[in-house]
Parts: sequence; C-alpha cells; structure tokens
Amino acid sequence: MKVIVLCFVILASVYADQCKPKYHFWRPYNGTIPTDAFLAGTDDNGRQNYVAKIVPLDKYQWTVPQQIRQNWSYIDFSWCCGGYNPVRIDKAIEILCVDKPNTITWEKVDRYADELKPRCCLVEGGIGLYDGKIYFPYIGKAVRDGINYIGRTYVDRSWDGVHIMNGTTSTKILSDFEVLTYDCEKNTSEAGAVLTLN
Ligand SMILES: *[C@@H]1O[C@H](CO)[C@@H](O)[C@H](O)[C@H]1NC(C)=O
Ligand SMILES: *[C@@H]1O[C@H](CO)[C@@H](O)[C@H](O)[C@H]1NC(C)=O
Ligand SMILES: *[C@@H]1O[C@H](CO)[C@@H](O)[C@H](O)[C@H]1NC(C)=O
Ligand SMILES: *[C@@H]1O[C@H](CO)[C@@H](O)[C@H](O)[C@H]1NC(C)=O
Repeated sequence: MKVIVLCFVILASVYADQCKPKYHFWRPYNGTIPTDAFLAGTDDNGRQNYVAKIVPLDKYQWTVPQQIRQNWSYIDFSWCCGGYNPVRIDKAIEILCVDKPNTITWEKVDRYADELKPRCCLVEGGIGLYDGKIYFPYIGKAVRDGINYIGRTYVDRSWDGVHIMNGTTSTKILSDFEVLTYDCEKNTSEAGAVLTLN
C-alpha cells in the first residue's frame, strides 16, 4: 500500500480587487494635530509622529507620504537619495486620520513591502507617473535609535526600501521596517488533506 500525503496550503489572496481604501482618510493640516489623527509612533523622547501626504511641486507632480513630527508646521522633502535640493513644503499638507482606532496597523517586513501583498491591503500614500507607468507609494516606517522615520515604500522590488527624510537629507532604509496595512488575513493555512491510495 502506498500512502501519499498531500498537504494543501490555502492562502487566501485578499489583495486583488478587494483593497478599496477603508478606515482611513486625509484631513487638511494647518499645524494642529486633529484628534482623530493616526498616531504613527512615539519616539523614545516622547515626541509623537504622524503621517502626512504632500505634493512636491516639481516636474514629477507626485503625491507622496511623509512624516509630521509633533509641532511641525512644514515638511522638508527631496527625492531619494542625494542630488536633489530639499524643498520646504508648508501648503496643501494633509494628515492621515482614522475613523476607528486599531483598524490600520504596521506590519513588519524583512526587505520588501510586497512580502505583505498576499495577505494584507496596504494604505495608499499617494500616486505618481514615471516613464508612462503609474506607481503607488505606500507608507513605510523604520525605528532607529528610538526615533521613528516615516516615508514611502513601493511594491516594486526595483524601488526598494523605505525612502525617508533625516532632517533635510533624503535617504533609504533597506531592511527591517514596517508597512501600514489593513484587513490582514490571520494565518489562514488550512489543514491539508490526507489521501490514501491503494
Ligand atoms: C485646524 O485644524 C484643526 C484640526 O483638524 C481644526 O480643529 C481647526 O478648526 C483648524 N483651524 C482652522 C483655523 O481651520
Ligand atoms: C509642542 O508644543 C507645545 C505647545 O507649544 C509644547 O507644550 C510642547 O512641549 C511641544 N512638544 C514638543 C515635543 O516639542
Ligand atoms: C540621521 O542623521 C543622524 C545625524 O547625522 C545620524 O546620526 C542618524 O544615524 C541618521 N539616521 C538615519 C536613520 O539615517
Ligand atoms: C502559519 O501557519 C503555517 C502552517 O501551519 C506555519 O508554518 C507558520 O509558521 C504560521 N505563520 C505564522 C505567522 O503564524
């Protein structure tokens, strides 16, 4: 008798067309943190951080996610990494808010945001066109030495890491970061089937 054990792992792909924006929205930012703003992380020194969406006014005309630290009225931005002059943005800033707490969550990745795609929806942080192709910058966060750094990340592996500003310097953090998600599937590995063939 031959016994063949087959195991199926059924991974529900929630990503496909079911990732309509949910739970979160953007408010105009005027220097005051709204009470329903999404708290993205608190630095070791107690300073709170939020997610902003900005339009860097340049030839690319993208919208991208960036960071607002507590008490900031402007955001310094430049494209990654070096070679661009930072611009100071204080107009048309939006801040990420949630309609209920704990509906959007940070999920860890080793290196690439697309590790999460099979089981999570990712919060869109903007949109842009490059070389005839549309890109969605998603929202990434890395904590280094007790400080939160928030910026954009892509599911395209050729544009890896989370692109952040450190003061007026643009840089990338390439591993051990988090991506803002919602509606992640719990571990849905279904038990397999055992077939006995004679
Ligand atoms: C500034 O934003 C806060 C939070 O969203 C809001 O409560 C306040 O009314 C705004 N102030 C002005 C002058 O619009
Ligand atoms: C932010 O501003 C408020 C009011 O001016 C002040 O009390 C608070 O200490 C400031 N927080 C930080 C982290 O700078
Ligand atoms: C930010 O800049 C400071 C000062 O140059 C440096 O010590 C720190 O490592 C930088 N952090 C990141 C995440 O690049
Ligand atoms: C999910 O389930 C699989 C199979 O049972 C297991 O190997 C894996 O470690 C689980 N992952 C998590 C994150 O729990």
